[in-house]
Amino acid sequence: MKSRSVVITDNATGKQVECPVYEGAYGAPVIDIKNLYKELGMFTFDLGYGSTASCRSAITYLDGEEGLLMHRGYPIEQLAEQSTFTEVAYLLINGELPNQQQHDEWNRALKMHGMTHEHLSRFYTGYRYDAHPMSVLAGVVAAVASYYHDETDIYNPADRILTARRVIGKMPSLISKIYRHQSGLPFVYPDNSRDYVENFMYMMFSWPTESYLANPVAVRALDLLFILHADHEQNASTSTVRLAGSAETNPFACVAAGVTTLWGKSHGGANEAVIKMLEEIGHPTNIQKFVDRAKDKNDNFRLMGFGHRVYKNYDPRAKIIRQACHDLLDEMHLNSELFDIAMELERIALEDPYFIERKLYPNVDFYSGLIYQALNIPTDMFTPMFALARSAGWIAQWMEMMADPDFRIGRPRQLYIGAKQRDYVPLAQRT
Ligand code: ACO
Repeated sequence: MKSRSVVITDNATGKQVECPVYEGAYGAPVIDIKNLYKELGMFTFDLGYGSTASCRSAITYLDGEEGLLMHRGYPIEQLAEQSTFTEVAYLLINGELPNQQQHDEWNRALKMHGMTHEHLSRFYTGYRYDAHPMSVLAGVVAAVASYYHDETDIYNPADRILTARRVIGKMPSLISKIYRHQSGLPFVYPDNSRDYVENFMYMMFSWPTESYLANPVAVRALDLLFILHADHEQNASTSTVRLAGSAETNPFACVAAGVTTLWGKSHGGANEAVIKMLEEIGHPTNIQKFVDRAKDKNDNFRLMGFGHRVYKNYDPRAKIIRQACHDLLDEMHLNSELFDIAMELERIALEDPYFIERKLYPNVDFYSGLIYQALNIPTDMFTPMFALARSAGWIAQWMEMMADPDFRIGRPRQLYIGAKQRDYVPLAQRT
């Protein structure tokens, strides 16, 4: 909603443009600069999009200064304590919590879409046993697009909701097969008598010769991690999904694009990088050395799991995970040297002026890897776990964008700093 306007003046020409300012439900107002180029012949320049709102969205709100995160208005703390991942996925997609009937239908639908085409299984065997799981995941998710291409009308709301069910429903099967192939174990079909997270654990860990009963403590811990990772407004992978989707591409291809972005260690790959870093630290007595390296401008090492583009106060998800990690290790009677190192590293960093001045706090992934590790999930499978959960947010954001009447292809501009025009020199004449 327009509340006021901002006038931008070009001091060289005196030309002006009046830009409307819109207020959202919460957060910083935004300046609508769409007439800037038309009136002043200028673009805006915002490396890393630190001051740019790329879209309107009613799904997730986060306040980095206050350490606040809400989905559709519900605080993450309440969802973490009282909800389930599949219910949060429903909420992200539909805007409201389901009633009992909607809840049951939704969970049933996710189960009905849990299988993947039998031919798809062959894709996995084309990868080396030690291929990084995120590379495989990007490939197999993109491959699913080939099974649902011509029949999917991205402008039909019913097809979009069907796509959401397919994406969220198939992720456990797609991801568990990566682990099974890596481990030399046969693929496992979903068992629809089990709920979503338990079914995922069954497909990951069951042994062909034994019956499988998941540990309810582990199921709840994994469900919690999935809730905490389900969406996070316009982060790098979600923006990638939206940008790919804005070109009207197949939604599974959009999700595959999100997977590739999430893989990076500045983003979802951080959970894997944290564990590797903690293992490298090895003992609390080595922590200071690593903290010093992180502060050294001549060393590109950063403390993994620290810092966030938006949170300049404690990441609310990290608070929940930290406690969950404590509880899980206690309940499973596990001792984790890495957890002790993590706690001590957190203490040292949070007392260090370098981290205090830059408002660098542990983020969601500082502790998530420790939970995955306690659940016997291999380190290189951590980021696929994140992708499973984030697929709910990706598809909800894609659906919202596709339903927006003002939707158009995303096409940023640039500040060109390359060579001026020059003439082509034939190869024989070049020195
Ligand atoms: N360790 C040491 N110094 C850091 C760290 C870190 N983890 N993060 C930021 N800084 C420093 C930077 O060097 C910079 O210092 P300077 O002002 O002296 O130059 C300052 O803090 C600001 O850093 P930016 O890079 O501008 O912050 P930005 O918002 O661009 O980056 C990011 C955020 C990518 C998350 C960064 O903090 C980082 O690399 N963290 C480690 C990786 C990580 O944990 N990623 C997960 C993010 S959460 C998620 O995706 C689920």
